[in-house]
Amino acid sequence: MSTAVMDKAEADDKAAASHLITVTFRIRRFNSEISDESRWEDFAVDVDPKDRVLDVLHKIKWEIDGTLTFRRSCAHGICGSDAMRINGRNRLACKTLIKDINPEKPITIEAIKGLTVLKDLVVDMDPFFQAYRDVMPFLVTTGNEPTRERLQSAEDRERFDDTTKCILCAACTSSCPVFWNDGQYFGPAAIVNAHRFIFDSRDEAGEQRLEILNDRDGVWRCRTTFNCTDACPRGIEVTKAIQEVKKALITRRF
Ligand code: SF4
Ligand code: FES
Repeated sequence: MSTAVMDKAEADDKAAASHLITVTFRIRRFNSEISDESRWEDFAVDVDPKDRVLDVLHKIKWEIDGTLTFRRSCAHGICGSDAMRINGRNRLACKTLIKDINPEKPITIEAIKGLTVLKDLVVDMDPFFQAYRDVMPFLVTTGNEPTRERLQSAEDRERFDDTTKCILCAACTSSCPVFWNDGQYFGPAAIVNAHRFIFDSRDEAGEQRLEILNDRDGVWRCRTTFNCTDACPRGIEVTKAIQEVKKALITRRF
């Protein structure tokens, strides 16, 4: 490499290093093979303020402690697998920038609440997905198969547009105090996904889904705390969707 190219590379390295800051990630660790109790562990890491929490977790896992366990897949806010409590609030690690979460103080990272922790930041998602399956999250129709697409007006499509955006990250359900106290509650995410089909003019199982949600563990458990709406990384108006399902149950119009 020529001296000029080396100088440029060194200068680039220095410039890159100059805006790094040191942050402390305070992570709640749990490994049942070591202890029945969880414990906090601090990691000091040099990061770019524009890094995402997920980047820093990768740095810790790849460079400091390979046993750190968390889920992630797409890294772009689509798969919903890296919901976690960051400074006490449910967020997606891949959508949260370090500069936005007060890097001056230790940044706490914990598993989402209300679901059993399997290891570190990984929880057992089975109850969450069971509630999702229970509301029949698919189009139900009767009669002969149509010979052309099932048409729908723009207005009819608009009725459930918001709830189609769900990525099943569980940030809403695991921020709900009713779900923390009683894991039997269907939870906001299942109701959001029921809403998506109940209000679809092409679907014919709305009554059935409403009856499922009329259960003692259904929509009536919602206490309208809005935690779910605040937590949703997709900006879905979760509480509003739950209210619409409640209204449909009373009026039987949807
Ligand atoms: S409604 Fe929002 S917070 Fe809840 S599972 Fe769907 S995307 Fe996640
Ligand atoms: S890793 Fe897929 S949503 Fe964050």
